[in-house]
Order: sequence, then C-alpha cells, then structure tokens
Amino acid sequence: MAQNQQKIIHTFGALAELGHEVAHKQNFQEMIRTSLHLLLGSLAIMRGGVARFSRFGHELNMLAARGLGDDFPLSLSLCYEDERQFLINGLSAIEISQAKVLPFFQVYDRSFEKKRLELAVPLVIRDEIVGLILLGEKANGELYTSDDKEIVCAMARHIGVGIAQRNLMAELERRAEENRRLYDDLRMTYKDTVKAFATAIDCKDKYTEGHSVRVGKYSEIIAAELGWDENQIEGAAVAGYLHDVGKIAVESRIINSPTRINAKEHAELNKHPAVGYEILLPINHPYADVPLAAKSHHERLDGRGYPDGLYDGDIPYIAKIVALADSFDAMTSDRPYKRRRPANEIVEDLQRNSGKQFAPELVTAFCRAMLKELTGEKKDKKFSRLLGRDYLQDEQIIPQLKNALNGLSATSSLTLVSLD
Ligand SMILES: [Fe+2]
Repeated sequence: MAQNQQKIIHTFGALAELGHEVAHKQNFQEMIRTSLHLLLGSLAIMRGGVARFSRFGHELNMLAARGLGDDFPLSLSLCYEDERQFLINGLSAIEISQAKVLPFFQVYDRSFEKKRLELAVPLVIRDEIVGLILLGEKANGELYTSDDKEIVCAMARHIGVGIAQRNLMAELERRAEENRRLYDDLRMTYKDTVKAFATAIDCKDKYTEGHSVRVGKYSEIIAAELGWDENQIEGAAVAGYLHDVGKIAVESRIINSPTRINAKEHAELNKHPAVGYEILLPINHPYADVPLAAKSHHERLDGRGYPDGLYDGDIPYIAKIVALADSFDAMTSDRPYKRRRPANEIVEDLQRNSGKQFAPELVTAFCRAMLKELTGEKKDKKFSRLLGRDYLQDEQIIPQLKNALNGLSATSSLTLVSLD
C-alpha cells in the first residue's frame, strides 16, 4: 500500500512537472525532450521516443528519442488505414505486439522489435493525430499494468497538447505571413494603379509630360526628409501622383492651350481641385488625406490660393507638401510659352515665398534634401534623375542652398489664420 501511495505521489509530481513544461517552455524541442525524460523517468522505462505527425507528408517525424540508437528511423510513414485506426483508437496505449494487423506495425516491425518497443500511444488531440509516443520495456522487466498505461496516457496527453499548441502557433504564423504577402500584393497593385492613373492624367497634358509622376516623387523626397515612416512617405507619393486627377474633367483644349488662357478658361481649369477631391473621396485609400491633397494643393499660407482661400493652419499638411512639389515642378519644367528658369533663381523663389505660399519647414526640408544630394551625402540622385544631370551643376547652387537654409526659420514667421 505504502509503495502504491509512493508511486501515486511520484506520478502526480511528474505530471505536475510535465504540465509546467508544456505551459512554460519557450523552446519547443527542449520541451519535448524534457517531457520524454519525465515520462520515461516516472515509470523507469528504458527507452522511448516522441514523434510529431505531419499532415502533409503523412509521416511521423522523431522529435526526441532516448535509447533508440542511431539506426532507428527518423521518419515513419503512415498510410490512410493507419491514420484511420489511430483516430478510432484515440489517445490510449496500444500494445505493439497485439497491433501487427496494422500496416504501420508491419512496416516497422523489425525496428520496433530490435529496440524492444512495447507500447505506442497515438497523440490524438481534438480528433486530430498530432504525434505518437513509442515506449520500450520497463527497467524491472515487468509488463505494463493498466495503471501504468493510464499514467502513460495522462502524460502523453500533456505532450500531445504541447504539440497541438505548437501546430496552432505555426498555423497562425503561416496565416499571418500569408496575410502580410496578400497585403503587400494589394499595396503593389494599388501603387501600380495609382502610377498608371498618374500617367493617364499626364497624357492629357502634352506640355507637362510626367508632371504628376514628378510631383509624386518630389512629395516623397519631402516626406522622407521630414523623417516620416515608410507608409507615410508612400502616402505622400500617392497624394502627389493623384493631385491633378480632377484635370480629367477639364477640356483638353484648355489644358493644352499653347498660349496663356483667358479668365473664363482659368475658372474652368481652377475647378480641378474640387473635382479631384470628389473623384478620390469615395476610394478607400490605404493612406490618409489623399483626397485632401487634391482639394487643397493650390492653397497658399497667406490665404491667396484657391479654391477655398484657406490660411496656413487650415490647410491640410499633405496639401502643403504637394503644393511645394507641384510648384517646384511647374517652375523647373519647360512650358510652351516659357522655358524653365535656372536652378539658382528657383531656390531664390522658394526662399522668397516661404511663409507666404509655402510652409517654411517644408522649403527647408526640400532645400536640405537637394543639398544632401549635391554634396554627396545622399547617393540616390533623385533630383538629378528628375531634373536632368546638368540642371543642378551650377557651382553657385550649393552656397545658395546653404544660405537659404540659414535664412529660413524652422517655422512660419507669421501664423496666418482665417479671420472668419
Ligand atoms: Fe493642380
């Protein structure tokens, strides 16, 4: 009796330890190895192994083994009938010597016999096979009693739950990875669509070929220089690509007029921010404020812009970025009625209009990004690619940019607010 009590206490101790192992061990392999060790130790079993079932390969892969030697197979195949029988059997001990009708025990008969394996416990958790435990003879040479088998099954259940948990985690990780890939694909598709759209917008205007794409790229440069994260930078690029989408509704004749357009035509052209906003608003953009950039990219800090005559604090930040990128591209592109001006004049222009038309910190960021490229601090040559290699070669441009950066305060000298 006392011996029995001792055994029960010992078994409970081993079970508690095993439960702790399964719940707390971060390292799966180590958890399985320790669990096998506890299981073998609790009943003084000479040897054994734990295998994990792979649904895809229909095989049992050994995770841990003790006393099975190097010649024991690392992977054991299961046929459909084996799987069916294991599921019917559930998580209970099978006497290997009694189970030779099953293909599995026929195929591996020699290996099992050689290692004197006596019990097999299919790890069936929530009606799924997750693994198998194989156990050799007990150290005292006695056969397994029904109590022993119950103890084995109780411990095997812990190990099975540990494997099932691991499978679940692996499945969750796989799905998360798949979701990430799907999201990336979607984002690529969105970006490609946006670029295609920008090209379509630019096609309408034969004199400013590539304008939207360049505005997108300048907006990207500004956002990057502001230290925005990757997602926000992409958002700024998209806002730039799509800022003129409303021009789709403006007559080609007005957009492509070889001479300066009259007041009526101007009024027509000036509808494009509002039209763009209407077009973009119903679309579920992955980035915030894309429609607002279209709506307010012709606003100015001093309230003299259009369509709403907004003042500094009321203009969406993204629209301020796109406004600077848009104007910079307009100034540095040839038009039918005027050629682009030299770079030094344009830097002067930006400086002069900082705080009136453009947000000073954005002009600073833009000039700083340009300076970094010209001094070799940045190697991506974004400006050179957009403006042509020779355009920024003027030797005056570096001191001028430095001067501009010294002269520009970080924030607007005036805080312009609407009075109504
Ligand atoms: Fe525009």
